[in-house]
Amino acid sequence: MTDPEPFSPSSRREARMTAERTHAAPRPLARHARRRRAAGIRVFFAVAASAALLIGGSGAVTAAVTGGALAEGSVITSAAVEPTSEPRTPIDATVLPMPAEGLPSPSFDVSAAGRALCDDPAFTQAIESGDDATVIAAAGGADAFRVAVATGTAPCIPLDDPARAWSVVNKQRPFEPIDFAPFPLALPSGVRSLSGGELRADAAASFTEMATAAREAGAGEIAMESAYRSYSTQQATYRGHVGDRGVEGADLVSARPGYSEHQSGLGADVVACDEGTCGSIDDLAATPQGAWVAEHAWEHGWIVRYLEGRTDVTGYLPEPWHLRYVGPEIARAYHEGSWTTLEEFFGLAPAPDYAG
Ligand code: DAL
Ligand code: ZN
Repeated sequence: MTDPEPFSPSSRREARMTAERTHAAPRPLARHARRRRAAGIRVFFAVAASAALLIGGSGAVTAAVTGGALAEGSVITSAAVEPTSEPRTPIDATVLPMPAEGLPSPSFDVSAAGRALCDDPAFTQAIESGDDATVIAAAGGADAFRVAVATGTAPCIPLDDPARAWSVVNKQRPFEPIDFAPFPLALPSGVRSLSGGELRADAAASFTEMATAAREAGAGEIAMESAYRSYSTQQATYRGHVGDRGVEGADLVSARPGYSEHQSGLGADVVACDEGTCGSIDDLAATPQGAWVAEHAWEHGWIVRYLEGRTDVTGYLPEPWHLRYVGPEIARAYHEGSWTTLEEFFGLAPAPDYAG
């Protein structure tokens, strides 16, 4: 089987030559949200969530709020602050934690809870800080953040912001702008990058930790086959796949330009190396490195994005080699909740096809 992602050695060379870096201003230093305000918000939501369940409210909002969720997000692009326009799917209440018993019935509108969070200056300041971890903490944790997004009750959360590690890009959710480029980029330390590609700096640092952990666990060496790919590189990559397999076949293995997680600098294709020789991405799953990555990548902020049997949601055939950096908090919640797609994690519509 040919490698579905990096199209050819020549495309690899092109990737190196055409890699682009836009010089968007670095995000400002994080300012810590006021913990007491955040704690008060958490209590408010916990009561709202439990009370909502007790009164037997139906629908996605009630079901999700019973998970104790709050909202979080950042405001970087104006498009990103319109989460109410996000397509939503019903929340599966069976995956949400049950509330404590014996709490009083609510006397307020539960659906307003997320909005109340977004109205809180402490929370909006956390968003403006530009620091993902600060926002997640201010929301009450990653699962609270998830539920707030999934229920659509926190309109200040910018799920589309490509500068956020939690952003979701799929066939229904292109980059805005379409040629977005991350900044700054860096190479993971002591990790081979076979195509020469870099990652966004925070993802690169995390990849370094992950590769070190894999080695120390005795799993062996992991390397990157492909990492950041610019819009123009993805154009060449996708075009190559179309030439090889036609549009329908290409769309199952390669994102169109403007739709690839590689363009965010948060996607990495992993290969296993042994005594200086590295296998292909197709070889990874059968190696100790592949098994280790499947089990432990989340501990370092990464998820395996395209799993077996989820093409109906992701639109792609399984790619056990394609890791996506989502940050340590989200990765932990994803793992602990046994989620298998980022779309379902955030209550988004499946994205098997492109719009139009
Ligand atoms: N192979 C994945 C879907 C990409 O091209 O981003
Ligand atoms: Zn990939």
